[in-house]
Amino acid sequence: MLSPVSWNEDSVHIIEQTRLPDEEVWVDLKTVEQVARAIRILDVRGAPAIGITAAFGLALAARRYEGNDPAELVKEVQQAAKTLAATRPTAVNLFWALSRMQKKLENVAGATIDSLSKRLIDEAQKIRSEDIAYCRAIGKHGGALLPNQGYVLTHCNAGALATGGYGTALGVIRGAVESGKQIHVFADETRPLLQGARLTTWELARDGIEVTLICDNMAGHLMKMGKIDACVVGSDRIAANGDVANKIGTYSVAVLAHRHDIPFYVAAPTSTIDLQLSSGDQIPIEEREASEVTSPRGTRFAPEGINVFNPAFDVTPNELVAAIITEQGVATHPELGAKLEKMVRQAKAELEN
Ligand code: MRU
Repeated sequence: MLSPVSWNEDSVHIIEQTRLPDEEVWVDLKTVEQVARAIRILDVRGAPAIGITAAFGLALAARRYEGNDPAELVKEVQQAAKTLAATRPTAVNLFWALSRMQKKLENVAGATIDSLSKRLIDEAQKIRSEDIAYCRAIGKHGGALLPNQGYVLTHCNAGALATGGYGTALGVIRGAVESGKQIHVFADETRPLLQGARLTTWELARDGIEVTLICDNMAGHLMKMGKIDACVVGSDRIAANGDVANKIGTYSVAVLAHRHDIPFYVAAPTSTIDLQLSSGDQIPIEEREASEVTSPRGTRFAPEGINVFNPAFDVTPNELVAAIITEQGVATHPELGAKLEKMVRQAKAELEN
């Protein structure tokens, strides 16, 4: 199974996603700064994968500490957490993972430096393997919602590349296909950074799942032609009321799906649910460089110096969401928010046991 990030002999092993699909290049990140840069430039991207990579980043900070004072090691790790937290603001999995990792250093009295860094490596490994298991569970729950035979639209890449492995939205598709369903995927190209065109098509084709690439502005036409049976996307942050932040363009897909009576599903682990935020209006939306819009992959086709607005995410209001699929099951209206809260509570209880 493709996994975009793992721990490899005291470094963080990743596939450089900015090079896909032209080249498959794996690198070992050896410093916190390299990890932060990889997240910032989207060599590692997708909410769960960002969280896992940041967790390994903190393990790296502890591993590289050369002194002999546990309190000083904790400070180094806290500093690393600040650096990593400043990389991207929208995916809550980043902050969730950093906070879970730092909890492992709450009690350091009498511990050796080696045992502390081992604590962090073990916890980061755990976050990664849990995520893979959660994606498989999402695949089972969500796969059951798809028709036995049909066409599914997805936006951006919420696949193996965006998680520990297997994927959330693409996990749902994999789950359906593995249960014998005949699913054909339509992948939105996902401007400006083309995660759909570059990554979703690449990873589905690699698995032999039928996929057709379309430009973002073709989705409405396909829906009107009766070509789409369901939409499935991932998420970067889900507010307590079920509003969903995901890659820019997701909201347009949800509105179109609603117009055409097509179910719009969101697949995400409970680590993506942010119960602190009562609605999607409070989700911070990352804005990125103008050059991503004017000059995709280095080729400029807009006038130099033109004004650009480049929000990386948008928020889909919960009323457009047919169901939110997590590792805990499927949450639907009414009382979507209460069901999400219950799922988060269940996930916490499972971790504590
Ligand atoms: O900017 P990106 O590529 O990190 O955005 C990724 C997405 O929007 C994904 O849909 C989301 O993180 C869910 S990944 C399972």
